[in-house]
Amino acid sequence: MDTEALFQAARIAMDRAYAPYSRFPVGAALRTEAGAIHAGCNIENASYPEGWCAETTALGHMIMAGGGKVAEIAVVAEKMPKIMPCGGCRQRLAEFVTADARLHLCDIGGVVETVPFATVFPRAFDLEANR
Ligand code: THU
Repeated sequence: MDTEALFQAARIAMDRAYAPYSRFPVGAALRTEAGAIHAGCNIENASYPEGWCAETTALGHMIMAGGGKVAEIAVVAEKMPKIMPCGGCRQRLAEFVTADARLHLCDIGGVVETVPFATVFPRAFDLEANR
C-alpha cells in the first residue's frame, strides 16, 4: 500500500483547512478497500460548536463519491505530531472501517506510526452489539 500518497492527500487537505478560530489546521485522508482516496480538512464556524473535523469532511467526500469501506486513514496537523482522531470522529469512522483498517499517525514529514483502528476505538457504540 502506498501510504505516502495517502499522507500527501491529507497534507494537501490540511492546507485547505478553514480554522481561523483555533488556528489548528488538520487534514485527513481515507483510502477505501477499492483504492480510492478521499480527503478533508476541518471547517470551523463563528458559532464555535458548529465547526467540524477533517475526518468528517473526508467521510462526506467518500459518501458523495459512492461510499465504500475505509481500509486506511491518515491524519496530519502541523501543530501536533501524531494527532489522534477525536472521539466523535472515531465513532464516525467506526461506521465505515474494515475489520483490519489501519490508522496512520503523522507528523509534517509523513507517517510516523501505524496502528490498527480497532485498538484506538474498542467497544464502539454498535446497534448490532449485545442484541
Ligand atoms: N480537529 C480535527 O479536524 N480533527 C481531529 O481529530 C481533532 C480536532 C479540529 C477541530 C478544530 O477545528 C481544531 O482541530 C481544534 O480542535
